[in-house]
Amino acid sequence: MMLHRKVRLLLFLFSQMVLFVLLFHKYSQDSFSLSRKEEPKPMHVLILSSWRSGSSFVGQLFGQHPDVFYLMEPAWHVWMTFTQSTPWRLHMAVRDLIRSVFLCDMSVFDAYMSPGPRKLSSVFHWDHSRALCSPPACNVFPRDKIISQAHCKLLCNREPFEAVEKACRSYSHVVLKEVRFFNLQSLYPLLTDPSLNLHIVHLVRDPRAVFRSREHTVAELMIDSHIVMGQHWQKIKKEDQPYYTMQIICQSQLEIFKAILSLPKALKQRYLLMRYEDLVRDPLVQTSRMYDYVGLRFLPHLQTWVHNITRGKGMGEHAFHTNARDAINVSQAWRWSLPYTKVSQIQKVCGDTMDLLGYHQVRSEQEQKNLSLDLLSTWRPSEQIYQQV
Ligand SMILES: *[C@@H]1O[C@H](CO)[C@@H](O)[C@H](O)[C@H]1NC(C)=O
Ligand SMILES: *[C@@H]1O[C@H](CO)[C@@H](O)[C@H](O)[C@H]1NC(C)=O
Ligand SMILES: *[C@@H]1O[C@H](CO)[C@@H](O)[C@H](O)[C@H]1NC(C)=O
Repeated sequence: MMLHRKVRLLLFLFSQMVLFVLLFHKYSQDSFSLSRKEEPKPMHVLILSSWRSGSSFVGQLFGQHPDVFYLMEPAWHVWMTFTQSTPWRLHMAVRDLIRSVFLCDMSVFDAYMSPGPRKLSSVFHWDHSRALCSPPACNVFPRDKIISQAHCKLLCNREPFEAVEKACRSYSHVVLKEVRFFNLQSLYPLLTDPSLNLHIVHLVRDPRAVFRSREHTVAELMIDSHIVMGQHWQKIKKEDQPYYTMQIICQSQLEIFKAILSLPKALKQRYLLMRYEDLVRDPLVQTSRMYDYVGLRFLPHLQTWVHNITRGKGMGEHAFHTNARDAINVSQAWRWSLPYTKVSQIQKVCGDTMDLLGYHQVRSEQEQKNLSLDLLSTWRPSEQIYQQV
């Protein structure tokens, strides 16, 4: 009898507890959805690319927009902390860092920066971010003007690190550029995360042009290239290393694109493929396409600016410090500056990726050097994304 009463008491207490938990849950959800309704959710954009593919330029196109908080390569901090690792082992850390930064939680950098007080300038390439050069981060420049990186670097570098978070929270769009994702799987949790509104701009470039550009930046890219090749890089012959690195990069581009093809339709709409060459040929139209995709207005002063920098009237520090005709020419520079033997070797390791992305292969030195032969497919690889059932 005693036992029976105890059980009933326990049951009663338990049911009260369940009721309390349910009510609390409902209440917290209600207040959550209320606060959500009042403020539209920020848009989170990941510019997914590789080294030497024009991603700094595309980053600038977003970063100079007055509605955008932009950071260039925040995951650099992760990679430089674990230089003996591989891209795949670092995916989780990179993804978690990106997620926190999208949500404007900059405490995530604690894991990768030395302890103690820091400045805004502790963030890698902070001066590439117009948002960190204008209020509330730095009161020297107005928010809605094009800001030069050099001027910002000079005048805003003493602001406290806390300014990064404060600035981030004051924007409707957070845009991050990353070259350190080597598959799409590691990003799935972010694509379906209800606290994020993630859209991906996948920027690709002709591997032959990337290869040529990498040849000019070997020293700069050395640590990254070693991570890409993994611990075995020392076992690879020095002359083969650039091709091996390109093979891994091309393979990852291919895998990302194929993974998109098999996504459900709703998620496919969160992906935009941009070929650097298409952007070079038609900067205003393609910029407008990217802005539309993430809900940004192509403001008049931005139109003039894009027009200016792609015609050589701009600030000159970036991808396009030549006129538009030259920009197309520069994007083809590999055709007369790379020997055919190298081109053919890159085509061997990157051929599948090139076929898929619409970069025609050349079969002879003559074809390579013949500039009236257009090597960019007229079809857009993104057309395939929606054709697939
Ligand atoms: C564009 O170029 C013109 C002429 O050089 C210059 O006056 C103008 O300030 C530039 N505008 C922008 C937004 O860069
Ligand atoms: C492209 O650049 C090369 C090398 O600088 C030059 O020889 C060639 O005439 C240029 N072509 C055009 C169409 O500007
Ligand atoms: C260059 O390509 C064009 C277009 O295919 C072709 O008509 C022309 O004969 C080629 N020129 C040479 C020198 O191969």
